[in-house]
Amino acid sequence: MKKTTISNVSHFVGQEVKIGAWIANKRSSGKIQFLQLRDGTGFIQGVLVKNEVSEAIWEAASTLTQESSLYIIGTVREDSRAPSGYELTIQDVSILQIAQDYPITPKEHGTEFLMDHRHLWLRSSRQHAILRIRNEIIRATYAFFNDQGFIKIDPPILTGSSAEGTTDLFHTEYFDRDAYLSQSGQLYMEAAALAFGKVFSFGPTFRAEKSKTRRHLIEFWMIEPEMAFIEHEESLEIQEQYVSFIVQSVLERCQPELKALDRDLSKLEKVTAPFPRITYDEAIQLLKNKGFDDIEWGEDFGAPHETAIAESFDKPVFITHYPTQIKAFYMKPDPEREDVVLCADLIAPEGYGEIIGGSQRIDDLALLEQRYQEHQLTDPAYEWYLQLRKYGSVPHSGFGLGLERTVAWITGIEHVRETIPFPRLLNRLYP
Ligand code: 4AD
Ligand code: MG
Repeated sequence: MKKTTISNVSHFVGQEVKIGAWIANKRSSGKIQFLQLRDGTGFIQGVLVKNEVSEAIWEAASTLTQESSLYIIGTVREDSRAPSGYELTIQDVSILQIAQDYPITPKEHGTEFLMDHRHLWLRSSRQHAILRIRNEIIRATYAFFNDQGFIKIDPPILTGSSAEGTTDLFHTEYFDRDAYLSQSGQLYMEAAALAFGKVFSFGPTFRAEKSKTRRHLIEFWMIEPEMAFIEHEESLEIQEQYVSFIVQSVLERCQPELKALDRDLSKLEKVTAPFPRITYDEAIQLLKNKGFDDIEWGEDFGAPHETAIAESFDKPVFITHYPTQIKAFYMKPDPEREDVVLCADLIAPEGYGEIIGGSQRIDDLALLEQRYQEHQLTDPAYEWYLQLRKYGSVPHSGFGLGLERTVAWITGIEHVRETIPFPRLLNRLYP
């Protein structure tokens, strides 16, 4: 008899198989027990008929509770009514453990209760669908960048300097020195781009932001490509190709998960390159037309602004050329207009906000030093970064895509806390 997984039952129609599983749910009609089984790869219904099995097996199955673990032996049947398309007719069960008082029952629970039981909540079909889509986005990311000749470079997590300003750094001790958890691998990725041409990173980043919104995590994962000899406009083309590729990959390979989440597919199907572009100036005008009277040129956009802008488009939209004064020190000013920089934020549709921040970087040493001083960055740890402009400086651009916001958007869920297995939030470090 073959040992298999729920995801593979289609290869065993009419055959007897053994599957290690947990009881997700159970109901009984007296003569038939319906066991909703999950094994991590999927969900399937097992049907146990009283007069087709021994008394001992029937009694054993009767003791099964939610989240009890077992090996099950059954025959795979095709069943067009079943969500998975298959069902198991159970011949035998071998119980591994009877679970007592599993706290997450099929009834409704409050969010804080579920978050306190995140280590168990991960087992639910909803979390299963969300985290499988997250996995598909990661798989598609590697496929896309490897195909385009990028190599993956891993920047450090413990750093001596900040990439995105010093206000939201996590401080830690590094023996007798100070160190910070990385906010972004960008500065190191610039060094890597000048060594390898086209590079990307994928790793955790940390921000001690006191923001408690549905888009903010303290620890989140970022994909950061960096490209030598690539200018602002070319970078936007790579970004829109990348984002359409991951959306189309999820559409192709995660239909059951999208269905489980009740995602409106017509919205995702529209996400194909190219994406619309508007300048910051145009965005300000658009906001004023929409009744945001108090927004002034030179101010950064908040979530309500981003949502209002996104409403005018059915694809992600690039907002380009932000004022120099509100952006990071390394962004290259527009040669035709020094008060704005060659940068873009990509705003997701449906109110999910900024999913990418990117820019062309300053490649001129004198200008970089000047901007560096204007930002009052005196940290000697930057010495190596300035050196990159001394030895074969070239135009280069890069961007960072926030994985969790992207997962929230593609899955259509309300809050980023469900897009990562163990979220770190302002008030949560447990479990
Ligand atoms: O716009 P940000 O701050 O850009 C950078 O860090 C650049 N150094 C990236 C680069 O050019 N290599 O952050 C990039 C993205 C945002 O667009 C957002 O998607 C995500 O990271 N992000 C967060 N996601 C969740 N929680 C937070 N607190 C986030 N802060 C940023
Ligand atoms: Mg940003």
